[in-house]
Amino acid sequence: MSETAPAHIRHGSSMGQPLTRRDGLLKVTGGARFAADNHPAGMLFAVMATSSIARGRITALDTDDARAHPGVVEVMTSGNTPKLARHPDATDEMFMYKLDLLQDDRIRYANQPIAVVIAETLEAATEGAALITPTYTAEPAHIGLDAAERFEPPAIGVGEPPNAGKGDVAAGLAGAEKQVTAVYETAAQYHNAMEPHAVVAAWDGDRLTLDTPSQGMSVAQARLAGLFGIDPANIHIRSPFLGGGFGSKGVLWAPQVLGVMAARLVDRPVKLVTRREQMFGPVGHRAETRQTLRLGADADGLLTALDHHTLTSSSTFDDFFEPSGGVSHTLYATPALATSYEAVRLDTGTPFFMRAPGEASGSVALESAVDEMADACGMDPLAFRLKNYAEVEPISGKPFSSKSLRACYEQGAEKFGWASRPLAPRQMRDEAGLLVGWGMGTASFPAIMFQAGARAVLHADGSALVELGAHDMGQGAWTALAQIAADGLGLDYERVEFRMGTSDLPNAGIAGGSSQTATSGAAIHNAGADVIAQLADIAMGDERSPLFGAGNAGVIARDGRLVRRDDESRGESYADILARAGRSGLEGKGQGAGNPADQEKYAMHAHGAVFAEVKVDPDLGQIRVTRLVGAFAAGRIINPRLVRSQYFGGMIWGVSFALHEHAVLDPRSGRTMNGNFAEYHVPVNADVPSLEAILVQEDDAHVNSLGIKGVGEIGITGTAGAVANAVWHATGVRVRKIPITLDKLL
Ligand code: MOS
Repeated sequence: MSETAPAHIRHGSSMGQPLTRRDGLLKVTGGARFAADNHPAGMLFAVMATSSIARGRITALDTDDARAHPGVVEVMTSGNTPKLARHPDATDEMFMYKLDLLQDDRIRYANQPIAVVIAETLEAATEGAALITPTYTAEPAHIGLDAAERFEPPAIGVGEPPNAGKGDVAAGLAGAEKQVTAVYETAAQYHNAMEPHAVVAAWDGDRLTLDTPSQGMSVAQARLAGLFGIDPANIHIRSPFLGGGFGSKGVLWAPQVLGVMAARLVDRPVKLVTRREQMFGPVGHRAETRQTLRLGADADGLLTALDHHTLTSSSTFDDFFEPSGGVSHTLYATPALATSYEAVRLDTGTPFFMRAPGEASGSVALESAVDEMADACGMDPLAFRLKNYAEVEPISGKPFSSKSLRACYEQGAEKFGWASRPLAPRQMRDEAGLLVGWGMGTASFPAIMFQAGARAVLHADGSALVELGAHDMGQGAWTALAQIAADGLGLDYERVEFRMGTSDLPNAGIAGGSSQTATSGAAIHNAGADVIAQLADIAMGDERSPLFGAGNAGVIARDGRLVRRDDESRGESYADILARAGRSGLEGKGQGAGNPADQEKYAMHAHGAVFAEVKVDPDLGQIRVTRLVGAFAAGRIINPRLVRSQYFGGMIWGVSFALHEHAVLDPRSGRTMNGNFAEYHVPVNADVPSLEAILVQEDDAHVNSLGIKGVGEIGITGTAGAVANAVWHATGVRVRKIPITLDKLL
């Protein structure tokens, strides 16, 4: 329990239940209104034209044909954009990135917006955009990690120092009985949520109403307020449903802001939806990496040193550096540890957070290297990990707030049947003659807390309203947060009206870093606690109440009643307490945030272990993942059905990471050659194997008030490495260039 929640609050029964999604019926019947489903009266359609070069200048932009096209109302170019209050390259706050908003003739990456065509119909806008005729002076593009000069990034991720470590790595390696040095490459991945970035923008004077999918409505408000010189309170964002976010909707990118500018220009509501191929450039991506891992182990198979160097890229104009080394700070005990970074600047859009940013790319390299070391030591990969996993976070020396990794290893291995795995590779075949391999990986993700606020209102009839500006990317926040709301108020789930997803509600911060359930959940729970505390004060101070004077014994809130803790037969309903006090209702407020004292004292992570089976065609090299078992410990589970689904989603992305996703950029033009869903491969149902996710019991008294850890991102970590290791075990071929495709096996 939290220090802020009074002792007389007791959890009810909604949390922990596998409830189905509140929004499920709306979703499956088409009743859920996503941003682009909105059509305010008088709305026009906008379509971006984007650059076909990656570096250079626009010397001429012929818009005559587009303007003359039937239905086209206006063409927005650098010559006629509404004046911005701030240059979009002026970025001085966290989570603020430079945007290409038609401010000049410079081209910094392929698919950069160069014009916006606004028309009466989507078809006319699309055709108009195709009629925009730019003339460029192109400069050679720098594409690929060897295409530009390396430098040490000043910070990685969100302001973390690039170099970290402890002990003497050189000595640890020199004195090691076994050494592994290996270079792993991971491919660039481009954000492709099912729902592309979209906006429906309507201005009314200096007031702006937006329908746009957002993982951070207050972040978006602040960005727009700065760009347009208006009060953030005058920006109303509606974002009730997202068709996936994955980090990319944590900030506004150029397409959404261009939609807002277009609406300003024509003084009518405008809808702008990013076309699928336009996702490859302006909306963030996971940068490619080349990671060099050096491990040493002694004769007993204990690690003596771990060195993790990452080479990655940012854009030529902004800073985001994929923090791949972070997992090496967390997972394995070693007396000597170093992580370091170099980067190059490429003619691409700026890389960004993509689900498990750093942890995913770093984990596949680390878990592969650990597997190679286990092999060098002649040890089973699970036995090696059980010997070397960290009980105390190696980098900080802090104990983990709750440590269930061993249970994850054991329960996952048991379920998978790992014990019968032959040590050597290429030993197993199925009845059809396919090579069979088993591999594993360790999963980990930090338990992050941001800040959130929430409001709870108890009505005279004993029902309640709970609301906050939280976000549902598809993960089930509508349901999980409502479960917390019900328990916080001691009410049945059905008696609580729950609202979220608009910016006029209390600021819930960001749905990112797998932090929302914990952070918003704490705010919601505290808001409920505030209501109950007020209600208890009223009752206990009223001599007509059966609770009069219960102060020392305390009261329990349950099923819409307060009862004495020492005599549960004495109590009364919320409605009766309010009625006697002549109150029409009560309002409570709550905040959610981490506890700095505990954060100072403990390392906070969710953990897991993933086991994979693959089958590989010995002649053709075709790889299929046939079985995945993940065991994860992530504190209190609010809704096991939704949590399992989150793990599955992460594990599927792990398969995608290991075997499928790879944006191929043409080094001559800088253009993405597979910028579409036909050629940018993600797993389809036929690629997804039998999945099992074990929810390992974990009670964490320190991580936050409700003991919740995030479950959205951890599933990718461990999985990609497990698949890569299984491919090695099937074939004896160690592919260090991810994704592993059949050509690399032949
Ligand atoms: Mo996530 S990459 O914080 O949505």
